[in-house]
Amino acid sequence: MSTHEIRVIGDPVLRTPAADVTDVDGALVRLSEDMFSTMYEALGIGLAAPQVGVQKRFFVYDHGEDSGVVLNPRIVESDGEWAFEEGCLSVPGLSWEIVRPKTIHLVGVDLDGNELSIEADELEARLFQHEIDHLDGVLLVDHLDDEQRRDARRALNELTVARPSQSGGSFPMDTGGRSSGGGLHLP
Ligand code: NI
Repeated sequence: MSTHEIRVIGDPVLRTPAADVTDVDGALVRLSEDMFSTMYEALGIGLAAPQVGVQKRFFVYDHGEDSGVVLNPRIVESDGEWAFEEGCLSVPGLSWEIVRPKTIHLVGVDLDGNELSIEADELEARLFQHEIDHLDGVLLVDHLDDEQRRDARRALNELTVARPSQSGGSFPMDTGGRSSGGGLHLP
């Protein structure tokens, strides 16, 4: 098993909706194993395929009580509201309190082709919603309210104070030395 580089905000692959998985072959099984290694190394509890540059609808997760691979996940029911401080491996070092449904009913398929049907609550429900967002090209920053957006702008400016600014409205992130050239665009 090996690990992959985790793509960070600014990389177009994170903004492209992923395609359904139509075939489970050895390559996909190996990729999911590598995604677990990548997730564990980064101390994450979930990782979606686009985060390692693969435009396929699946994610891996391990929140301590349960773990798995979910292909073609869909939320068929959601209920309630729950505020939770949410971060993302693709938006490194930042997190925001975001309100989302508290419980969801997730369906999908596992690597053996078995139908999955999971009633998830709180952290697990949050994790699944976050990973499905990745499959739709949606990032954490899309859920910010106006005040959080202003704070995000400030945080990103502070991170990049030593760098020459790019064009207006672009906030390049410190990506730990990687020269992805990515920028976060906040309206
Ligand atoms: Ni994420």
